[in-house]
Amino acid sequence: MGLTLPSGLTIETGRLTLRLVSEADLPELLEINGDDETTRYLPYASWRGMADAQEWFDRALNRHAAGEAGQFVIVLRETGRVVGSCLLFHFDEPSRRAEIGYVLGRQHWGAGYMLEAGKALVDFAFGPAGLRRLEAEIDPRNTASSRLLERLGFVKEGLLRERWDNKGEVSDSGLYGLLRGDWQPSRAPLAPHS
Ligand SMILES: CC(C)(COP(=O)(O)OP(=O)(O)OC[C@H]1O[C@@H](n2cnc3c(N)ncnc32)[C@H](O)[C@@H]1OP(=O)(O)O)[C@@H](O)C(=O)NCCC(=O)NCCS
Repeated sequence: MGLTLPSGLTIETGRLTLRLVSEADLPELLEINGDDETTRYLPYASWRGMADAQEWFDRALNRHAAGEAGQFVIVLRETGRVVGSCLLFHFDEPSRRAEIGYVLGRQHWGAGYMLEAGKALVDFAFGPAGLRRLEAEIDPRNTASSRLLERLGFVKEGLLRERWDNKGEVSDSGLYGLLRGDWQPSRAPLAPHS
């Protein structure tokens, strides 16, 4: 038994809908992940075409099937467009812990979307998904990401020096944690999923 997510799972926030990724989302996700400024601190090279997008999608499906991860897209309801994505991954069932990750298209930065999506993802993780601890690992130079994590209530728990050699650059990792006991749900509990 892993992280089992019903295929129709959607989470609504004030402006956004989070739903599990589907193949039809790939062109919009390519626009987002094809931008070098957006992927600057992400642990992968910018996607260069639909083959990269498809490879990523196949990995996401495999991780869903294995119960290891849940990959969501973030849709701006006003336009119906995919503006970003977020995920729970490295799911560890005995410890009821997972890691979170997120990316937003550059033209949508700074509008509070990821804080809104992040709160909903954390509500889901500590509510229906039954998790107890969330983790995040970021490049400490990524101030937008560290600020976002702080706003979500994550605590910086450590710094691993020169952990990555990524895209020709060695970088440190800031490790963050959030416990269910520290989390104030941002709204009424979501219904448990079957
Ligand atoms: C990190 C990222 C998802 C933030 O998304 P966002 O929707 O722009 O963030 P929000 O608007 O919800 O802001 C959340 C907080 O971070 C702050 N913030 C956002 N961008 C910032 C920046 N460039 N510098 C400093 N603070 C920033 C906001 O001011 C807000 O804090 P506040 O409420 O105290 O003012 C977005 O910058 C992104 O996609 N970056 C590229 C991908 C990436 O690096 N992902 C993380 C990998 S670990």
